[in-house]
Amino acid sequence: MDSSDEFSLTRRDLLIAGAASAATTVPSPSAAQGLPGEPPPSTARVTLEVNGQARTLDVDTRTTLLDALRERLHLTGTKKGCDQGQCGACTVLVNGRRTVSCLTLAVMNAGTKVTTIEGLGTPSRPHPLQAAFVKHDGFQCGYCTPGQICSAIGMLDEIRRGVPSHAAGDIAEQPVLSAAELRERMSGNVCRCGAYSNIADAIYEVAGRKA
Ligand code: FES
Ligand code: FES
Repeated sequence: MDSSDEFSLTRRDLLIAGAASAATTVPSPSAAQGLPGEPPPSTARVTLEVNGQARTLDVDTRTTLLDALRERLHLTGTKKGCDQGQCGACTVLVNGRRTVSCLTLAVMNAGTKVTTIEGLGTPSRPHPLQAAFVKHDGFQCGYCTPGQICSAIGMLDEIRRGVPSHAAGDIAEQPVLSAAELRERMSGNVCRCGAYSNIADAIYEVAGRKA
């Protein structure tokens, strides 16, 4: 055997070894999808207080709070816009804090108090912000409105508690609802109809500030 035969043998061996290695490291489609007979995704029993009522649900542990509210409890006032934390349409109050419900799982909120737009007021007895949105025409299509109102309630509470924002000149000072503060603090709630100036007027009225 001359040196060129040795080289071609070595190269063939390498190719065979490479193919064998690829066969053992690339998972087959059936392995990637799980074997037949494997248990289904896990579920959990969750109890939440939603709009003052205890609600118990058996949910897939991957269910978002938004989907639990809309699909399981049929509270469709909370809207799904982007489903990825970008638009604020799904904002609800969890223990009084504004929360984008598409970015939190139902199981993470066990034992909390959730307030949706349905829990804020009724047509005959609206929440002051609901009344102000109507008075100031703070909506057009209304899709973003439940999220805007829940977010505004949370925002006004944050200001009362002295939580600073990026618009604060001095984070140690008590914040006031300036136009810059309102824009910054409500920037997570998008309105595709562009009703921002009327939304701001409604919030200013409830905050006791002149626009
Ligand atoms: Fe949750 Fe857009 S649907 S932020
Ligand atoms: Fe239509 Fe805000 S009123 S998206």
